Amino acid sequence: MAWGLGRLRSMLWGLAQRHVAPRPLSWQNQPRDTLHWFDEPQLPLQPYGLAMPAFGLRESAGTGDLGSFLGIGDSWAHLVNRFLPPDPMVLDIGCGCGKMARYFALNPGLHYVGVDIFEPSILWCRRAFERYGDRFRFEHFDGYSAAYNPDGKLRAEDYILPTPDGSVDLIVCGSLFTHLFEPQARHYLSQLRRVLKPGGSALVSLHVEPPAGEVYAGTEWRIDVDEAHFLGMAKAAGLEAAERIGVVYGQVVHRLRRP
Ligand SMILES: C[S@@+](CC[C@H](N)C(=O)[O-])C[C@H]1O[C@@H](n2cnc3c(N)ncnc32)[C@H](O)[C@@H]1O
Repeated sequence: MAWGLGRLRSMLWGLAQRHVAPRPLSWQNQPRDTLHWFDEPQLPLQPYGLAMPAFGLRESAGTGDLGSFLGIGDSWAHLVNRFLPPDPMVLDIGCGCGKMARYFALNPGLHYVGVDIFEPSILWCRRAFERYGDRFRFEHFDGYSAAYNPDGKLRAEDYILPTPDGSVDLIVCGSLFTHLFEPQARHYLSQLRRVLKPGGSALVSLHVEPPAGEVYAGTEWRIDVDEAHFLGMAKAAGLEAAERIGVVYGQVVHRLRRP
């Protein structure tokens, strides 16, 4: 009897909570100038001593779910580590709110530049990674994007990456090309080629299911590309298709290499 009453009480409590608990807002309905706010004290410093971005900011970078956020970042960091020389320079294009950077920071010899078109992510990262000083730098690109930066002044097709020619050991583009139209993607590939050191690699992830008869399709929210077509674009930009790594969290990852 006692067990029955206890169970009933906890069910009623659960129902009441479900009714009153605030649901996390989707990032698109949240004021952009609040997205980079920190969640403390609800989520104080998380594994490895870094703060956690708020739900809305995590969601803007692909997933609000905490487990997926950490899992995807960890998986990518393992992948990237396979191709890093000692004391590497890493460029993360479309870095979001540091899903991968939080793991790269564990490598004390690694220098990092993260760029993104979505300013709240960059503002958050600058504060969260402040302790790493010059080793970690975050740059906002004020390019136009209907989804991420509707007031952006520049064209993605004109963006010059903020790293010198031949200076980067490894570039990571996790779910970046899944948002770029073809002319933008071609331009970014030529920028990848410019900033990579000879022999340096770029890891890029793609959605690879364009409708039948198409090779490049979609909207800014999701672009799908035929893999052979994409690798042809990379070749035209002066990059070799070094390796098809496989599927990571639902996207096909390729390693491109500057000869
Ligand atoms: C799906 S999120 C992935 C973020 C991050 N790579 C991660 O794994 O958490 C795509 C990111 O690309 C950024 N982005 C979209 N278009 C961009 C562009 N033209 N240049 C730079 N970043 C862009 C978005 O703002 C967003 O943060």
